[in-house]
Amino acid sequence: MSEPAAAPGQERTSALPPVGVDPPKRVRVQHLRAAKENGEKLTMLTAYDLPTARIFDAAGIDMLLVGDSYGDNMLGHGSTIPVTVDELIPAVRAVTRGAKRAMVVADLPFGSYEASPQQAMANATRMLKEGGAHAVKFEGGRRVAEHVRLLTSSGVPVVGHLGFTPQSENILGGKRVQGRGDEAAEDVLADAKALQEAGAVAVVLEMVPAAVAERATRELSIPTIGIGAGPACDGQVLVWLDMVGMGGWSPRFAKQFGSVGAEIDRATRSYIDEVRTGAFPAREHTYWD
Ligand code: KIV
Repeated sequence: MSEPAAAPGQERTSALPPVGVDPPKRVRVQHLRAAKENGEKLTMLTAYDLPTARIFDAAGIDMLLVGDSYGDNMLGHGSTIPVTVDELIPAVRAVTRGAKRAMVVADLPFGSYEASPQQAMANATRMLKEGGAHAVKFEGGRRVAEHVRLLTSSGVPVVGHLGFTPQSENILGGKRVQGRGDEAAEDVLADAKALQEAGAVAVVLEMVPAAVAERATRELSIPTIGIGAGPACDGQVLVWLDMVGMGGWSPRFAKQFGSVGAEIDRATRSYIDEVRTGAFPAREHTYWD
């Protein structure tokens, strides 16, 4: 399938590559900033495997995040803290195989980047070389600005992550809104500007008051991607299991756009029932010769 020619006077105005064209066109760093300038919202979902990456990509999601939320959502850890680079890389590889258009962003998990820009570079290199990721994300503001600078100047696009940063939940005292009050809001803004200045291509704002996210979105030239940060952000991200109604934790911001968990439950119960009663496999499911 090739991209249909635009009718005269109806030229495409999107700053983002078209969906469903052959050959596919990848969402790249220049599209993120262009989308912001164009006033187009960016869409991001987490993904941890091939089948869901294929579905999200074909539907037109712009960015797929192989988040360290893989640790709690897929591996059953109580938080994102235990997950390792070695555990994430196969997930990154699967998602990059499934994503033809979306930019794939790999999280650097807790303990894999904080110590130095060089440590961040070594693990980002693994995400790109072994996982095939197009960018990495890690948490923190001014304290990781030098890390962002080294990676950016070495050819690795970086997405920042501010506000509630799950890897620091022990020091933050749990899953709590960040940036409340003038001083905390100024801190978030200073961190966001430091990330931008160091070369970050976008910044995730998690669980911050809408007014703080609105100001960051206005004052930054790179896109803000919100999760529990209100409607003004340049884009939104959700954990896909929450988005489809399969998640465990249901914070206010995690709108369910489907009931996939309930549908899997229904299908499983029918399967059990039909196997037990002998209704499955039926004639049409059987090789008779
Ligand atoms: O790991 C993750 O899923 C994330 C999102 C919450 C942004 O970092």
